Amino acid sequence: MSAHETITVELGERSYPIVIGRGLLGGNFDIAQYVHGTDCHVVSNDTVAPLYLDRLLPNIAGRDVASINIADGEAYKTVDTMQQILDELISKSAGRDTTVVALGGGVVGDIAGFAAACYMRGVAFIQVPTTLLAQVDSSVGGKTGVNHEKGKNLIGAFHQPQLVLIDTDTLDTLHERELRAGLAEVIKYGAICDPGFFAWLENNMQALLDRDPAALAHAIQRSCELKAEVVAEDEREAGRRAILNFGHTFGHAIERCQGFGEWLHGEAVAAGMVMAAELSGIVSADIARLRDLVAAAGLPVEPPPIAGDDWLAAMGMDKKVQQKKLRFVLLDSLGHAFTTADYDRKKLNELIGARE
Ligand SMILES: NC(=O)c1ccc[n+]([C@@H]2O[C@H](COP(=O)([O-])OP(=O)(O)OC[C@H]3O[C@@H](n4cnc5c(N)ncnc54)[C@H](O)[C@@H]3O)[C@@H](O)[C@H]2O)c1
Ligand SMILES: [Zn+2]
Repeated sequence: MSAHETITVELGERSYPIVIGRGLLGGNFDIAQYVHGTDCHVVSNDTVAPLYLDRLLPNIAGRDVASINIADGEAYKTVDTMQQILDELISKSAGRDTTVVALGGGVVGDIAGFAAACYMRGVAFIQVPTTLLAQVDSSVGGKTGVNHEKGKNLIGAFHQPQLVLIDTDTLDTLHERELRAGLAEVIKYGAICDPGFFAWLENNMQALLDRDPAALAHAIQRSCELKAEVVAEDEREAGRRAILNFGHTFGHAIERCQGFGEWLHGEAVAAGMVMAAELSGIVSADIARLRDLVAAAGLPVEPPPIAGDDWLAAMGMDKKVQQKKLRFVLLDSLGHAFTTADYDRKKLNELIGARE
């Protein structure tokens, strides 16, 4: 038997545990205790279902379990795929007491969660994230949704899960590039709210890349603790939760200008964090530490070549919306972030213009 760690996301009556450990899908954790009704629908995709569905199903024994398979990829994070899930729930006569289980990365979690939020005005939901990014970020906090052709995550809802079950063994099959992309969000937590964790990452990056189980478990646990704290303080992003978007204003612009999917989200955020640190004007030694850690994770420290006007348009700052004040998440030192609309406009122009 393997030990597991439990972190609670404190949200009053909507509180829930994040359970982290090895072998949790292989029978080391009784998921059925979180499935209150008689039936349960596991949403997964073409890649993850063949790897892990059989491992998960015996843990929900005693319930009427059906699986729903969706196509793999960000391109399928759409209203159409959500419709497919709703159609299957309806055709199987799923009741109000059904539980939707998301088995997969952030794409599966976001769509399945949104379907759970909408079906019969909201049914129970369990996250079983299988990418590092989903384990440290997207499965925690209750943001669910799908993309629209005009932009990412434009349609969605807040819908907290009942349980987040993280079996770190699932990372064994994750592609190297996806692992590195997930590490960008891990670095982000250190940079915005935990200087001690940042230093730990500096000392343990190679172990993480080598998929050392103890190192990965610690990084996932600390990331979830930090995200849980921020979410508990500000569930619907009225204020502090916005610091989780550190590096994301630049990162989203990179994703948009390159065409979504060219750079992975974590890769774009990695370069975006270095740019945001530069915009913050923190001491150069701290900027260098962030750049070095990003590089050590094998992630880009520079954005791709993008013209200044394209940067501005992608960040919603083109001439048409000049009055709109963009907010940035900046650092006052490594480990301390804040949001502001009062940033150094000249430095911003240098950062994006110099790369025209
Ligand atoms: N809801 C939130 O708060 C939040 C936060 C951050 C990101 N997101 C969303 O998350 C999505 C990105 O998530 P992602 O990075 O997990 O991408 P993803 O879900 O596309 O997964 C990446 C790839 O890895 C595959 N995969 C998943 N688990 C695997 C495993 N164990 N072994 C082998 N392959 C595996 C997937 O099928 C996919 O091909 C984006 O849509 C983003 O908008 C949401
Ligand atoms: Zn992100």
